[in-house]
Amino acid sequence: MRFPPSFLDELKARLPISDVVGRRVKLKRAGREWKGLSPFQQEKTPSFTVNDQKQFYHDFSTGKHGNIFDFVMETEGVSFPEAVERLAGLAGLPLPRTSREEEQREHRQKSLFDVMELATKYFEQNLASNLGAQARGYLSDRGIVPSTNVEFRLGYAPASRYGLKEFLGSKGVSVADMIETGLLIAGDDIPVPYDRFRDRVIIPIHDQRGRVVGFGGRALKSDVQPKYLNSPETSIFHKGSVVFNFHRAREPAHKAGSVVAVEGYMDAIAISQAGIKSVVATMGTAFTEEQIATLWRLSPEPVICFDSDRAGVAAAHRSIDRILPLLTVGRAFRFAFMTEQKDPDDLIREKGVEAFKSVLAGSLPMWDVLWEREIAGTDVRTPDKQAALEQKLYGLVRTIKDPNVHKAYFRTCRMQLASLFWQIGRGKASKDDGPSKLVRDRVKISKDGPRYGLQRVLLGMLVHYPDLLDEKQDEVFRLQFATELQTFWEALHQLLIDEEQLTVQLIYRRLGPSFYETLESIHGDEAEGRPRGYRLFRRFPILKKDPPRDFISRCMDHFIRIIHLHQMDDDIARVQFEAGQPGGDGAMEQLVNLVNVRHETHAEIQAEGLILAEEANVLTRIWSPEPASLQVSA
Ligand code: UTP
Ligand code: MN
Repeated sequence: MRFPPSFLDELKARLPISDVVGRRVKLKRAGREWKGLSPFQQEKTPSFTVNDQKQFYHDFSTGKHGNIFDFVMETEGVSFPEAVERLAGLAGLPLPRTSREEEQREHRQKSLFDVMELATKYFEQNLASNLGAQARGYLSDRGIVPSTNVEFRLGYAPASRYGLKEFLGSKGVSVADMIETGLLIAGDDIPVPYDRFRDRVIIPIHDQRGRVVGFGGRALKSDVQPKYLNSPETSIFHKGSVVFNFHRAREPAHKAGSVVAVEGYMDAIAISQAGIKSVVATMGTAFTEEQIATLWRLSPEPVICFDSDRAGVAAAHRSIDRILPLLTVGRAFRFAFMTEQKDPDDLIREKGVEAFKSVLAGSLPMWDVLWEREIAGTDVRTPDKQAALEQKLYGLVRTIKDPNVHKAYFRTCRMQLASLFWQIGRGKASKDDGPSKLVRDRVKISKDGPRYGLQRVLLGMLVHYPDLLDEKQDEVFRLQFATELQTFWEALHQLLIDEEQLTVQLIYRRLGPSFYETLESIHGDEAEGRPRGYRLFRRFPILKKDPPRDFISRCMDHFIRIIHLHQMDDDIARVQFEAGQPGGDGAMEQLVNLVNVRHETHAEIQAEGLILAEEANVLTRIWSPEPASLQVSA
């Protein structure tokens, strides 16, 4: 029984050799290969290697090597057809019906490849001949050197209607084959089929095995439409599976461990000529699943370089949606974007290959591009808009089929959303509604900002109400004050331990001279015409009226919480930095938690501040019919 090569290729494409081997041999990653103990002979140190890109295994202990079919034959002791059957079962592919018809088709396809080869030669000869003078001029004007013409087998289709047709006819090619390969334009309304490509530079397109399967024809003048005329889809030219220049890029890509994918034929040719041989082109269409898989056969993380025009950006965005479902562990894409020049060809011609290399160096992980796409211009200032964004992103992440990659993307997404919403929430809080209503209405804070201002108010209150100092000490200990306030707090706390019954007088008497300045600034000693604590009263005037203990106590709790919130912001900024560093996965989790806690704390503070502010209003009204006079500060 004979299997068509295309079917065997399909099996190889669907079954990475590491999967097939991995069912029998425990494999470990070793660079771009896998390593394990030889299945053919007992051994202690692994000498058996498997290479997915090259699609073969090699056993150094026995010298055996081969592909997936060889492996199954060797290890399961079956014949080739049986091995194919088993692997087809594994891949979930139905066995092809092999019939005479099928064989004839294969045979015929073979002759179609021959037709394409003959046509390629015809175009090449034309480019080199007198007829090709203008086309040669066009290419050299574009900076393509003659050796590149030869390397890429560039050609020229002369302006005549029957040039290729007659040439192929003289070689015994039937008109039917010329039509089937798309070289002639034919149809019911066309009495005499004629050459498809006329007066164009010809760029041969090869399949993965390096056989010419189609052509792209570039118009020589800018007023000719279309700019590129391509071979139509034929039985040997499947546009969805072809990647331009794959067969030449394969070796260099494996050597370099990377590959660049660009949009245009001429870009790939220019990049290759400039010395980056590991380059392929997508031919301006959206990626198909097959093309994505093909790129991964060249490198685990291909860099796709998109043109700077709108079409390029749109193509990048469309590619993301195609790629997401196919991601697996260790397989990703990076995206690079042209900025000034339209495409790599222009850039290399104007600025040289180094400029292009820096574009590549600036490539982004696909996730970053996806994130930008979804965030750009999106209003997320309200909770429902945030929910919508969240849903959209999670929806996209959910299209990732691989559970591990899905998890990782989900985590990153959650982290970035939390961080984004936090920044927005904070921006709003500091601009629109301050720390809380109580603090806004009732606390006068000096120019060095709410942070230290509130710390002074709190410490001043602790001095003024030593009995509350005892009650709040645990909470206060969790705070981190500004340096000189921190030493003051520690000294104050020491007094609390030392003294049986701490009073304001004792504090003033017992604190050393080094604390006088701080004590004066947060509390203020009595003097002619001003009470002890006058500085505190200036900052928090309601205290002058000797409000109830319960109110004072709850105000202190409130300030403690706000100071704590400021500290959380510092923590978040720090963890956010750590999360961005390599290996920052743990930090990401921590960040998500911190941000959530901060959200809750902030909401509680706001609510608490409203209640306290209202109580303060009531208290003011009770004490004084003219509350406005209380607001006057010295
Ligand atoms: P571009 O329009 O970006 O062309 O199309 P380019 O490669 O920069 O072309 P030059 O530099 O002007 O020669 C990108 C790719 O899209 C396909 C081709 O594969 C082209 O390389 N294309 C574009 C077509 O197939 N037909 C067209 O008319 C235009
Ligand atoms: Mn171009």
